[in-house]
Amino acid sequence: MNESNPAEEKVPTGIAGLDEMLGGGFPRGHVVLVTGLPGTGKTCLALQFLSAGLARKEKGLFLSLEEDVPELLASARQFGWPVDDAVKSKSLQFLRLDPKETKQNLTRIQGELPKQLAALGVQRIVVDSVSLLNMLSDDEPARRTTLFTLAAVCRQAGATTLLTAEADPQHPEISRDGLSEYVADGVVVLGYNRGDDGRRIGLALRILKMRRTSHARSVQPYAIGARGITVDAKAVDFGPGA
Ligand SMILES: Nc1ncnc2c1ncn2[C@@H]1O[C@H](COP(=O)(O)OP(=O)(O)OP(=O)(O)O)[C@@H](O)[C@H]1O
Ligand SMILES: [Mg+2]
Repeated sequence: MNESNPAEEKVPTGIAGLDEMLGGGFPRGHVVLVTGLPGTGKTCLALQFLSAGLARKEKGLFLSLEEDVPELLASARQFGWPVDDAVKSKSLQFLRLDPKETKQNLTRIQGELPKQLAALGVQRIVVDSVSLLNMLSDDEPARRTTLFTLAAVCRQAGATTLLTAEADPQHPEISRDGLSEYVADGVVVLGYNRGDDGRRIGLALRILKMRRTSHARSVQPYAIGARGITVDAKAVDFGPGA
């Protein structure tokens, strides 16, 4: 049983098994990175996180650098999440950033975004994905600055933030840029369980880090189904782990 500090306020993710691994959810105000190879459910998890917020009357913002808004809405709809009403009532906003508009996007993050977030009063933010955001910058110092600025802006807004990032195909536990892990307060890795012969035998996730809280260290299987992601929390282990 996880003995979490009752003073820590947790933000439920909308995924019961993951919340169990986290002792209730992401610590409020954290910037959490979700990494994974294509198709492991990063965008799904991000949408599920925002829709869990809606159920608690928490406003959300989805900054998309990958999929267009109609596609994101269609994904959420197929999982049965009431995004259309939320968009109408402005409890949920989708913002599409075109990765080709490098300069404008960076200016936006540094200039307009803090004001927008304050005006919107959002409690949950998603950026899908920081991998594309990073491709906008020419070199590593610029990428670092962009990431740190983005995280700082989200923290200052008082929101709990979920950033997604592509995993490095050679090292699937690490993001492609290898930087986002250091900027984030927490890291959740989505990946594949492999059999002895190396073949993929199912999806599994682990919490690599989560600052200022205890969390499960075990690798837990998960599935993407008609209602989104479900994590099999059987045998969750809070021990020292690997
Ligand atoms: N209704 C559904 N039922 C079962 N599985 C689904 C359903 N909808 C989506 N999926 C699964 O989820 C996967 C897509 O998940 P998602 O788009 O969240 O992944 P991703 O990690 O964001 O991928 P990418 O890196 O390409 O953006 C699909 O490839 C499919 O396997
Ligand atoms: Mg995606």
